[in-house]
Parts: sequence; structure tokens; C-alpha cells
Amino acid sequence: MSRILSAVAWPYANGPRHIGHVAGFGVPSDIFSRYMRMAGNEVLMVSGTDEHGTPILVLAEQEGVGPQELADRYNRVIVEDLTNLGLSYDLFTRTTTRNHYAVVQEMFRTVHKNGYMIEQSTMGAISPSTGRTLPDRYVEGTCPICGYDGARGDQCDNCGNQLDAIDLINPHSRINGETPKFVESNHFFLDLPAFASALEAWLRTRTDWRPNVLNFSLNLVDDMRPRAMTRDIDWGIPVPLEGWEDNPNKRLYVWFDAVIGYLSASIEWARRTGDPDAWRPFWNDPEALSYYFMGKDNITFHSQIWPAELLAYDGRGTKGGSPGTFGTLNLPTEVVSSEFLTMEGKQFSSSRGVVIYVRDVLSRYQPDALRYFLSTAGPENQDSDFTWADFKTRTNSELVAGWGNLVNRTASLIHKNFGEIPAPGELQPVDQGLLATTSAGFGTVGGLLEGHRNRAAISEAMRVVQEANRYISETEPWKLTQDRDRLGTVLHTAAQAVSDANTLLAPFLPHSAQQVHETFGRTGTFSPLPRIDEVTDLDDDSRHYPIITGDYELGRTVAPWRSEPLVTGTPVAKPVPVFTKLDDSIVEEELERLRQA
Ligand code: MF3
Ligand code: ZN
Repeated sequence: MSRILSAVAWPYANGPRHIGHVAGFGVPSDIFSRYMRMAGNEVLMVSGTDEHGTPILVLAEQEGVGPQELADRYNRVIVEDLTNLGLSYDLFTRTTTRNHYAVVQEMFRTVHKNGYMIEQSTMGAISPSTGRTLPDRYVEGTCPICGYDGARGDQCDNCGNQLDAIDLINPHSRINGETPKFVESNHFFLDLPAFASALEAWLRTRTDWRPNVLNFSLNLVDDMRPRAMTRDIDWGIPVPLEGWEDNPNKRLYVWFDAVIGYLSASIEWARRTGDPDAWRPFWNDPEALSYYFMGKDNITFHSQIWPAELLAYDGRGTKGGSPGTFGTLNLPTEVVSSEFLTMEGKQFSSSRGVVIYVRDVLSRYQPDALRYFLSTAGPENQDSDFTWADFKTRTNSELVAGWGNLVNRTASLIHKNFGEIPAPGELQPVDQGLLATTSAGFGTVGGLLEGHRNRAAISEAMRVVQEANRYISETEPWKLTQDRDRLGTVLHTAAQAVSDANTLLAPFLPHSAQQVHETFGRTGTFSPLPRIDEVTDLDDDSRHYPIITGDYELGRTVAPWRSEPLVTGTPVAKPVPVFTKLDDSIVEEELERLRQA
């Protein structure tokens, strides 16, 4: 048994989720967490909405509401999207809780006390018409390095270099086009060079990461410069130092606070369970494992900035130091980064209408159909494309005709001939062969899931389904009605194989797994689903918000990762089909919807 932290990237509270958002890390982290629980581990899966920073502020301004009101609105929408997809968070919270503020401020204070926050003055842009600061990424101009004329003040997307807005040639505001004024401003910089050797030594031990993630992370170590962790902005967490705390225009950088969310959410989870120290074994015990799931645009923050924040808190940089009240915190076991999903060959873009929202898919299709598609064809090791034609084909030919049909015909035959799970007679080689295949699946599929190879894992699970379908075609139970003993043996064997395949598929297809479980007369929660609780902020009675949580312990006991023998005599009712076949016309209908968006 291991303790495993599943740390899932925090979506910005700036709109409903589209399927690109959930393809790379939402669904994969859930599959991993579900499997790890079934395999007997103690899992803590946390995330929440990322609610600070300029993107939220700018959108709030556009929509004519305050940033908190905007974040409240989209936090709720996102909580619903993720719950309906069955993502089994132990806690999905948000970055505007008082608990998060306190944890972030404790991190900052200790990092500062350990000497790793360097105060420096910089030149920052302000908008002459409003007098407000203009964050780097809202300044656009020509790149001083490669000459690209759409470079942003924080980086150039053409040559990939990090930039300072003041160095752009011909700078102008992306918000209203005016030329910014540059003024001097003081900020705290995280002393990244002080962690270069500690980070490199740590990364050198991370040999089982996906090679592209590891290489990208190692490259970052070659060019470590101090990075600003405060901003001239009035929306964010106050800088907890005298002279700064009361300045309404200085706030912590959104990325400094967002990554700390993994820790603050773990602490909030523990406080809500009534054992306020329950988070510690996940963070302080060096044997505990932690997996961070995200898209590739987030690697820098999870393999460099966040580990550096942790090392700084622990006092493990060149200047030494000692940890604060949280104790020595673990570095990530693995940064699991995915590639991008495109849609009908194009990049997702809400503004250009190239988008399909999770809630729209779920209003028309089964959640497990989407989860199946994303598991078999998701952007695991390279970018992948979502097309409606492919979605329809995979749903119909694999989910409905392969798996759903196996469940249905097995249960129908049992219902019709016995009305209950029949007793098996003596097993013949063909029966033993099938059961050997399904048993072997637990090791194979489990091993692939541990290595985050979900595409290979689901295809192995579906191979078991094919074998079982082949077994039924070969043994032809419909011709065995004169031989009750052989018929019972075949149907018992087939049902056992279906039950095993259902366990193998449960991490991917949690909604239908429960239905299949019940189809064979079993009871209890086999495949737990998340729920939404309305809660009060732990440190401020006047604040209320929805969280995602659930009783997933059940999964450890009712659905262990192994073959569970069926009990002869369990009643089997007439089955209800598990999956819905999609009409060919949905492809054209969906493409038409896209054209009209
Ligand atoms: N909100 C960021 C994004 O969508 C991700 C933040 S991950 C976090 O790119 F953990 F740092 F919060
Ligand atoms: Zn450039």
C-alpha cells in the first residue's frame, strides 16, 4: 500500500471547460487515481479553480463584473462539468479560500525568511490612459531577438525566448493599442539560480518520466534566472510583509499561488475530514508518491518553479534555511504532462468557435463515450485530433458492438436460460484459456496504468473483451440448450470474463461499470462517483462555495483490482443495454453546429 497524491492542474475560472481541457489531464488523472485506489493504495486527488491573475481580471472587466463575481460564476460551472464527467476528486476547491491565502502566505514568509526572495526594482508598463499597470503579457511588439512582430512582453512565441516588456520594439497595449509608459517598481524575485544544482540532481533521478518532459525540464536548468513572484495588480493574494501587505496594488504572482494549491487543497481536505493533520503523510513522508497531471504548456511551472518553491521552503538551496510549520515537503515523484488535443484538425479556440464544451457533449452523449474516446485516442504522447466521425465510429464499433454487446448477450442468455448465475461444471481447456486471459489482464493493464500508458492499457482491456466475444462465438451457447451442464459452464465462464473485463475497464468507464456490476446481480458501490457539496469557507462563515468530493474508499473494498468469483445462484434480470448506439447523422449535425458557432 502506498500513499499517493494525485495533483491535477487547476483550470482558470474563466469559462466552461472544453474537451481539450479535460483530454490531457482531467480524464487521465482520474483513470490513474481510480486504478490506484482499486489496487489498494490510499489516494488523495486534489485540484480546484485558479482564480487570480490578469486573465480573470481582464475578462471580468469585459463582462462588467468584479473578479470575484466572475470567478464565483465559472467556479460553479467548472465544478459541474468535472463532476458530470465522473472525475473522482477527493477535493476540488478554489484559490480564493481563506485557507489557501493562509497557506500561500506561510510559504512566502518562510521562503523569504530562508533568503530566497530577492527584492529588486524593475521597469514595468503602465497604461497612460488609466494609470493602471499593464502586465507583461498584455504588451505586444516586435521581438528584439528574432524580429517577430507579434511578440508578447513575457515571451516571444516565435523564438520561444523569455522577454521583458521594456525590451520590445514598438510596444503597444493589447487591450487598447496605446503605447505603454515604463515606470520603476519593486518586486520579489524567487532566487532560482540558488536551486539549479538541487533541481538538476533531483531531475537526474527521475529516469522514468516521459522523455520529452524530462528533457524539457533538464534544459530549463541550464538557464535559471531569478523570476518575479509579485505583480503590480490589485487582484491576488497580498504579499505578507510589512510595507507590502497593505499596498492594494501589490499582489503575489498568480503562478506562485496556484501551484501551492496542491498543498492548500490537501490541508483543506484534511481539515474537512476532521483530522487536520491527515495531509501530512502525503507531503512529509518521503515514501509517499506524488503525480502531477497537466498539459505541456504547464511543464515549467511544475518541474521548475514549484519544485524550487518547495526546496526554498524546505531550506534546501545554496543558502540553506529551515522549513516552517508545514515541515519538509516532498518534491514531485513525477510530472505527467500530456500533449494537446485538436478539434477537426484545428486548435481549440473559444473566440473563433472551434470548441466543444464538456457540458454540450454530456447533454447529448454518455459520459463514458467521451471518456472512452479520450482514453483510446487522447493526446498522451503526441498531439491528437478529435473528430465527430471518429467519435461516432469508436463509440459504435468498439463500445457498443464490442463491450456493450458482450455484456448484453451474456446477461440475456443467463437470464433466459437460468434466471441466475449458473453453477459451472468441469472446465474444458477453452474455458480455462479464457479465464487465464482475463486474469492475466490485471497485471498487464495495471502495469500500463502505473506507467500512464492509458491508450495501451485500454486496448489491452478491450483485447480481453474481444477474447470473450470470440469465446461465445466459438462455444455457441445457444446450441447447448440440451446440455444444461455444459451450458451452465459456458455461461458461468463468460459471465466471469465479463465481470473481470468490467473491473479492468472501471477506471476508464466508471458510470457503465456500476451498471454492468448490477447487471450480474451484484450490489453495493462498485464504481464510486463524485458529488458536489455546498460548503462554508473554513475560516470565514460568510463565504460559501461548491466543492467536488466523494466516498471513494468504497472502491478499495468493493472493487479490488483482481478477479472476484461470481456467486452461483445470484439472480440475473433481463439486461438493459449499457451504451447507446449513435446515428450516422450526428456527425453532420455536430459539424453544422460548429459552423454556426
Ligand atoms: N490555470 C493554469 C492553466 O490553466 C494551470 C495552473 S496549474 C496549477 O494553465 F497547479 F499551477 F495551478
Ligand atoms: Zn522572438
